[in-house]
Order: sequence, then structure tokens, then C-alpha cells
Amino acid sequence: MKRRELFAAALAASLPALASATTPALPPVQVWKSPTCGCCGAWVTHMRQAGFAVEVHEVQDIDASRRLLGMPAVYGSCHTARVAGYLLEGHVPAADVRRLLVMKPVAIGLAVPGMPIGSPGMEMDGRRDAYEVLLVERSGRSRVFARYGAA
Ligand code: CU
Ligand code: CU
Repeated sequence: MKRRELFAAALAASLPALASATTPALPPVQVWKSPTCGCCGAWVTHMRQAGFAVEVHEVQDIDASRRLLGMPAVYGSCHTARVAGYLLEGHVPAADVRRLLVMKPVAIGLAVPGMPIGSPGMEMDGRRDAYEVLLVERSGRSRVFARYGAA
């Protein structure tokens, strides 16, 4: 290990918050979406702006891709993504994805069912419906991972 790397490793060990803010350690995201979905594209932009590399797969049947990936239909939204072995359904905020990657819970992933107005990619004149980000457990049940109030 070179001196610089040693220094970086020591810094990372002593200052985890700074290290996570400065190192490009985010895993890549793959998203399956319909080619004609504008809000899906806006969510991809949101994720890229948050520092994620996003690979887009255009599919005609998002219900089929969601089923194949393993997200229960009851949590369905307009697109399904995968990151570090987790699934992301719908307009999940990047900050919650980052928190998921830090917490590493045993779960299928996160879901924002439907398409709440004001969630990332669903911006509309600054309006926001109250919505919840759900942690979808392997059992298929879910619990609230984050809650966003109306604005
Ligand atoms: Cu959408
Ligand atoms: Cu979408």
C-alpha cells in the first residue's frame, strides 16, 4: 500500500462520515422502465444527481419485469430498480437508498407504491402529497422506512 492510500485508509477509519461524503463508493443502480415513462426518467436523473451510476433497461411490460425481479405486485409503481442486491420500486428518494446501503437490513428493498406527487421525479409546482417509503421484508410484509409530510 502506498503512503497516500495508507493515509486515505487511516482517514476513512477515523472519519467515516467524511469518508462516505468524499469517496465514490456508491454501488451502481440498474433500472427497468417503460421507454415512454417521463417520471421514470426524472427519477433516473435524481439518482444520477445524487451520485449513483444508473444503467437503464427499457422494457415494454414493467409488471413482468417487477415480477421477475421479485418485488411483490402490491407495492407496484412505474419502475423497478436494483442496487447492491436490493430492489427499489418507484420514486424512492436517493437519501433513503443511501441509508439502506448503510443499514444493510435483511429485506427485499424499498418501495414507494403508486406515484405520489412531490416524490423525486414526480415534482409538480412544489406540491407534495404525504407518502411513505416502505422497507419490503422477505416475508412480503413491509414497515415504514421513511415518512414524508405533505407540502
Ligand atoms: Cu413514476
Ligand atoms: Cu418510474
